[in-house]
Amino acid sequence: MVTAVAQRLLSQRKQVDDTLAHFSLNRDQLRVVRDKMRVELERGLRKDSHSSASVKMLPAFVFQTPDGTERGKYLALDLGGTNFRVLVVKIRSGIRKSVRMYNKIYAIPHEIMQGTGEELFDHIVHCISDFLDYMGMKNTRLPLGFTFSFPCRQTGIDKGSLVSWTKGFKATDCEDHDVVDMLRDAIKRRNEFDLDIVAVVNDTVGTMMTCAYEDSKCEIGLIAGTGSNVCYMEDMRNIETVEGDEGQMCVNTEWGGFGENGCIEDIRTKFDREVDEGSLNSGKQRFEKMTSGMYLGEIVRQILIDLTKRGLLFRGRITEPLKTRGIFETKFLSQIERFISTYTLIIALMHLQSLGSTCDDSIIVKEVCGAVSHRAAQLCGAGMAAIVEKIRENRGLEHLEITVGVDGTLYKLHPHFSRVLKDTVRDLAPKCTVSFVLSEDGSGKGAALITAVARRYCDKRRQEWLKLRIDKYLYSMRFSDETLLEIMSRFRRELEKGLSQDTNPTATVKMLPTFVRSIPDGTEKGDFIALDLGGSNFRILRVKVSHEKKQTVQMETEIYDTPEDIIHGSGTRLFDHVAECLGDFMEKHKIKDKKLPVGFTFSFPCAQTKLDEGILLTWTKRFKASGVEGMDVVKLLNKAIKKRGVRFTDIMAVVNDTVGTMMTCGFDDHRCEVGIIIGTGTNACYMEEMRHIELVEGDEGRMCINTEWGAFGDDGMLEDIRTDFDRDIDRGSLNPGKQLFEKMVSGMYMGELVRLILVKMAREGLLFEGRITPELLTKGKFETKHISAIEKSKEGLSKAKEILARLGVEPSADDCIAVQHVCAIVSFRSASLVAATLAAILTRLKDNKHVPRLKTTVGIDGSLYKMHPQYARRLHKTVRRLVPECDVRFLLSESGSGKGAAMVTAWAYRLN
Ligand code: BG6
Ligand code: BG6
Ligand code: GLC
Ligand code: GLC
Repeated sequence: MVTAVAQRLLSQRKQVDDTLAHFSLNRDQLRVVRDKMRVELERGLRKDSHSSASVKMLPAFVFQTPDGTERGKYLALDLGGTNFRVLVVKIRSGIRKSVRMYNKIYAIPHEIMQGTGEELFDHIVHCISDFLDYMGMKNTRLPLGFTFSFPCRQTGIDKGSLVSWTKGFKATDCEDHDVVDMLRDAIKRRNEFDLDIVAVVNDTVGTMMTCAYEDSKCEIGLIAGTGSNVCYMEDMRNIETVEGDEGQMCVNTEWGGFGENGCIEDIRTKFDREVDEGSLNSGKQRFEKMTSGMYLGEIVRQILIDLTKRGLLFRGRITEPLKTRGIFETKFLSQIERFISTYTLIIALMHLQSLGSTCDDSIIVKEVCGAVSHRAAQLCGAGMAAIVEKIRENRGLEHLEITVGVDGTLYKLHPHFSRVLKDTVRDLAPKCTVSFVLSEDGSGKGAALITAVARRYCDKRRQEWLKLRIDKYLYSMRFSDETLLEIMSRFRRELEKGLSQDTNPTATVKMLPTFVRSIPDGTEKGDFIALDLGGSNFRILRVKVSHEKKQTVQMETEIYDTPEDIIHGSGTRLFDHVAECLGDFMEKHKIKDKKLPVGFTFSFPCAQTKLDEGILLTWTKRFKASGVEGMDVVKLLNKAIKKRGVRFTDIMAVVNDTVGTMMTCGFDDHRCEVGIIIGTGTNACYMEEMRHIELVEGDEGRMCINTEWGAFGDDGMLEDIRTDFDRDIDRGSLNPGKQLFEKMVSGMYMGELVRLILVKMAREGLLFEGRITPELLTKGKFETKHISAIEKSKEGLSKAKEILARLGVEPSADDCIAVQHVCAIVSFRSASLVAATLAAILTRLKDNKHVPRLKTTVGIDGSLYKMHPQYARRLHKTVRRLVPECDVRFLLSESGSGKGAAMVTAWAYRLN
């Protein structure tokens, strides 16, 4: 009899042991798991295998862990773990470095978790609303960090579309939708408060950041809770699904999906398969279903049912609770394993589950729990070993010391899970010393830290990544030095073509003689009027040059309007307007009765045979008055002046603004022999040897040539570097097919170029979440002065936000960085092109002088050059790189071209 009982017990014992033996993994098996995990990690990172990889390796767009300088007040949401929390996080930096948090936990009812997406997000916003009321913060527009503990495919820190629900969530119409958009829409629907959603963060990432705030070695985040997952800092060069090779980025591995391709079938048991089949996402998250709190209880339940069915437990009676899915929560599992005395265990089981009734039953239940949780911890350990080994190899280290930030109820509450996990990692990754730090504050703190960094725009790596993306998008606007040298030599050939009598008629760069033969020599004096027409302002000046002890210049200026209807009307009306303004000026300055000589800066291409004649070849920039092209503008102005009855003033000289600028600067620096304008339009003049100017008689001395370089490329010479944006600009201009170089370079067109790029990028979903406003579509709404404001180093990004808001766009932080970079590329291209053409002029001057090194001064004017914060520096640097054999001084014309025009007039007057 005794033997029979003993045999029955022994057989029972054996059957239980045999069943649980499937859960015991030996070292070799764990090594295999580690190695397979490693393969899947790599496959998830690689472009060609990413789509079929079971471990998705999702880029998290977090480029660095906190450095302690984060500060501010943030709202954080924490959705997807056991609890849904809303928090306010206050972060201080410096010596008072601290983080304070206030939070409230809200329930997410089952029917909402599995209802519609709209209901879920409305519920979330309802909870936020309650929390803001509770905190008295409804009227503050706080930045928000959103911990969303599900797999999201991110394209930026504030963009993430849900790949698929996991764990207990299954709300409809959410998968493949951007969760930030859904939250924003729900906030709009409620229409009670506003929030600035800055970052969407996985809980693993939030946890890593929370722990890294205290421990800079923390570069891995692990969740062992309802779900199971890991993130870590990966080298950018290994993340093939994201552009860029520099620095690091956090990758959310979503290792819960490991095994979806069948690679761990050998260790899955029939109980694992049953749990999977009964889950919300059958076939998915196979590793998670073997390792996380949400499923371990279920595995235990399945084993208990099996053992009961086989008469090995509960006297073969399957009770109602045992039939109930989800009855075994993680916390019960932890509690069962925690109880040491059998008596308390039985009580607990009876109390909690009405399951156990005998002493043996309780022991078996405890063993089942132990086997299942032990395997879970071992599997997590094997996975973690693969991660730390990968990091060690990435860094080429013999030995790696690293910290893992951990959170999750399973890790926190289970009596043995953490120990087994650590032992396994130690065993399977012997070249790594891995410390585990428990996240005391949840991932909300980490989400707030990420929000702080993202908001401050100073996450350098993230900025670099964004910039790189735009660099690639606008690669055709970025030139290598090799290309610039090529453009330089093409322009050099154009200069020669324009100078030669034979080729000039077909040359695009007209190389117009100006009859200005030298820069000021210090002897000029007199009282002059200067008109300055063609730049952004129409100015009239009185310029008095006296010669007491030293030459001094006094100037009085008035700015006059040139309304659109006048510059686009008839030529007669335009010159009448100029004469009228001149009359007004003389009256105002009480010089009505003086017969002062006039110098006329007319900033358009004019053919001259003498100083006081200028036949307008063609209008450029914004001017298009009829009946002026082909006419002598001096004559037209004289006629208008006479008509008005202004006491006759002699127009002694007509000068281009480049010439006026060279002369203004030449007054201060006798080395000045080049004048350039980078303003509404762009152009250059320089002193050429008479012997090379075949269009003018005489070989002696020098004469200033107005190159009219704006027309460079009008014969197709620049087609290889023009972009579709340039072609659009040209088509929409007043002079299609003309001034093609000017249209790539100058202020009149640059803002518009940026606008066109932004519209295209938005259309392709690369900016503003694909939203395009009517203002953004309006020509001229984005001006070159905006580029200058946006590129300012300190306040540029807030300016971008302001300017874009005026265009009806609600830009994210990333949008602002992107727009700033688009501006930089467009303005940098302009500076590079000007550098190339200017370099060609400098080499020409050097060759003319037959010197090994050229020392010269370039006089410059124009609003783009003057107002843009980086333009001048970039231009100077590039010129010096392209022509290292020239020592160039760049001299800004402080007083406009009027002073220079007066100098030319003084000469003309003297000759007269
Ligand atoms: C919390 C974090 O502490 O842990 C959450 O704040 C995370 O973001 C959770 O999801 C994970 O644990 P569990 O057990 O709640 O799923
Ligand atoms: C001014 C000169 O300073 O600059 C003008 O006086 C010139 O002659 C102008 O045309 C060019 O710059 P912008 O930006 O006004 O076209
Ligand atoms: C699930 C989610 C994952 C999350 C983890 C822990 O695996 O897919 O995003 O990190 O649970 O909560
Ligand atoms: C346009 C004009 C040119 C002028 C330049 C700068 O290119 O054609 O004459 O110098 O603008 O204002």
